[in-house]
Amino acid sequence: MNILLINGSPKGKKSNTYKLSQAFIEGFSEHIPTEIEEITVREKDIKPCIGCFSCWNKTPGKCVIKDEMKDMLEKYLWADVVIWSFGLYYFNVPSKLKQLIDRQLPLALPFMVSDSETGSHPTRYDMSGKRQVIISTCGFYTAKGNYGSVNTMFDHFLGKGNYETIYCGQGELFRVGELHNRTDEYLGFVKNAGEEFANGGISEQTREQLDTLLFPREVFETMADASWGIEKETGKKEDPAYVFTKQMAALYNKNSYQGKDIVLEMDYTDIEKTYQIILKKDGYEVRKDNFSDYTTKIETPLSVWKDIASGTITGTQAMADKLYRVQGDFELMLNWNKYFGSSNAGTAKNNKQNNSIKDKGTSLLLTLIPWIAYWVGVAIDSYIGAFITIGVCALTSVVFFRYRKTVYDVISSAAVIGFSVAALLLPDMVNILLPASYFSFGAMWSVSCLAKIPLTAWYSMKNYNGETALENPLFLRTNRILSLAWGILYICTSVWTFFLMGSPVSSYLAIINNIIPIFMGIFTKWFQNWYPAHFASK
Ligand SMILES: Cc1cc2nc3c(=O)[nH]c(=O)nc-3n(C[C@H](O)[C@H](O)[C@H](O)COP(=O)(O)O)c2cc1C
Repeated sequence: MNILLINGSPKGKKSNTYKLSQAFIEGFSEHIPTEIEEITVREKDIKPCIGCFSCWNKTPGKCVIKDEMKDMLEKYLWADVVIWSFGLYYFNVPSKLKQLIDRQLPLALPFMVSDSETGSHPTRYDMSGKRQVIISTCGFYTAKGNYGSVNTMFDHFLGKGNYETIYCGQGELFRVGELHNRTDEYLGFVKNAGEEFANGGISEQTREQLDTLLFPREVFETMADASWGIEKETGKKEDPAYVFTKQMAALYNKNSYQGKDIVLEMDYTDIEKTYQIILKKDGYEVRKDNFSDYTTKIETPLSVWKDIASGTITGTQAMADKLYRVQGDFELMLNWNKYFGSSNAGTAKNNKQNNSIKDKGTSLLLTLIPWIAYWVGVAIDSYIGAFITIGVCALTSVVFFRYRKTVYDVISSAAVIGFSVAALLLPDMVNILLPASYFSFGAMWSVSCLAKIPLTAWYSMKNYNGETALENPLFLRTNRILSLAWGILYICTSVWTFFLMGSPVSSYLAIINNIIPIFMGIFTKWFQNWYPAHFASK
C-alpha cells in the first residue's frame, strides 16, 4: 500500500502535527505493508498558480509552470492513501500548502457538474480507490468550531465524506516534554486510529478518545499563558522558576483534595528562589511571598526538576540518587501522580489494554488463605485439616481467575498442596511438617528479597501507582527490607513451633503464631511510609 504524507507545516519535521501523522502511519503500517513517501512542502519549489487555465485548455492535465509540482502530482496519483498534515493557520491551511492545493488544478476537468450546491469540477483521473486523511493541530484549547474553512475547502477539493479527519486542539503541547505523559497517551490513540483505518475505519471509541481535550480548558490556558514567560500585566520577563512553578500548579487535580489544604514549598537551591503552591479544595494559589508553614517542602535545583518533569530522569530515581530532599509530610510525594499527574489515562475509558492480565490486581490474601488453612487445620487434625486445605486451594485457584497470579502464588499453591498430601500420608509427622511449612513460607519471603522484584512489592504496588512502582528503586528497596523482615519472622516461627509443639504451651502456639503477624502487619503499614520519607529527608 502506498502512503503519501504531505507535511504542510512551515516548521517541517519540527511540526506538532507531524508527530500525530507519524503515529497514524506507524499504526497503519503495523498491519499493512506500506511504502511511504513524504513531501515537506516548505522545502519544495512550488510556485503559486498564475490562473492561466492552460492545464485545462492548451496543455490538458499539464501545468505550464516548471517546478517540483509535476513530481508532486505524480506522487499524488501513485498514492493509495494521502495524508494532509498541517497546523491550522488563521482557520485554514498554511499559505504554502494552499499554494500546493491551488496547483492541483490539472487533476480536475474544466466542466461543471451539478452534484454540489455551489458547483464543482469532475476529476481527470480515477480517484475511486484513493483514501484521504486530514491530520491537523491548532493552537486554541479545542479543535471544535475552528475547522469550518478547512472542511469547506476539502469538501470541494476531495468531495464531502471522502476523507477522514483528526483535528486536535492544544497542538503546541506536543513539543512540551514535561507533558509527555498526556501527549504520548494521545499519540497512542492516533496510532490506534491509524491501525483501525488500515482495517476499515476509525472506531467510535477511538474517535471519542481523539476528541477528548488534552487538558481541561482552564488548565491548558493557564499553562499556555505561563509558557511565554512574561507577565500578563507589564510584559516583563518572569523568573523561569516561577514560570515552572505556575505550570506545575496548573496541573493540580482538585479531585485529589483530602479535606485539608496542602502547602507545597518549592525551594530551588541552585537559584535560591522559593515559591509555594497552596493546594485547595477549589483550586490552587501560587505564592511568591507571605508564605504559610509548609506541609511538604522540596529542596532541589531547578535543573533537576526540569529533568524530572521532562522525563529525562524519574522522580524516584532522582530521589534514590539523592538529587533532592523532602521535608515535612511525605504523603504528597507518595501520591504525586494523583495530585499533579498529567495523564488522562484514568478517564480515558476503553483503553485497549483494559482487559489484559497486567491490569488485573494481585491479591496477597488469596496467597495467604491456603497457608493459614493449613496451619490452623492441620494443627487441630491432620486428616481433616489437610482435606480442608486442599479444598481451600481449589477454591482460591478459581477466585484467582479474577486476579493476577505471581510466581509466589504458584510456588505457594504447590507448596501447600505438597504439605497437605504429606500430612495425609504421614499423619505422625505433623510435628515436623508444621514447622517445615512455616520455614518454607519464611524462606520464600526471605529469598525473594534477592529477586529483581521482592515478594511484598508485587502485592503493594497497587497502592503506589501500579506497575510503574516496580521501576521505583526506593519502592523496591522498602519492599526488599519488608520481605526479608517477614521471611525472618516466619523462619523464627518455624523454630519456636518445632521446639514448643510437644510442650505445655503448645495449645497457645496457634494463637501466638497468628497474633504476631498482626503486629508485623501494623509495622509494615508504618514502615512503608516512614522509610521513603526518612530516606528523602536525608
Ligand atoms: C500564523 C499562525 C496562525 C495561526 N492560526 C491559528 C488559528 O487560526 N487557530 C488556532 O487554533 N491556532 C492557530 N495557530 C496555532 C497553530 O495552529 C498551532 O501552533 C499548531 O499546533 C501548529 O502546528 P504545526 O506545528 O504542525 O505547524 C496559528 C499559528 C500561526 C503561527
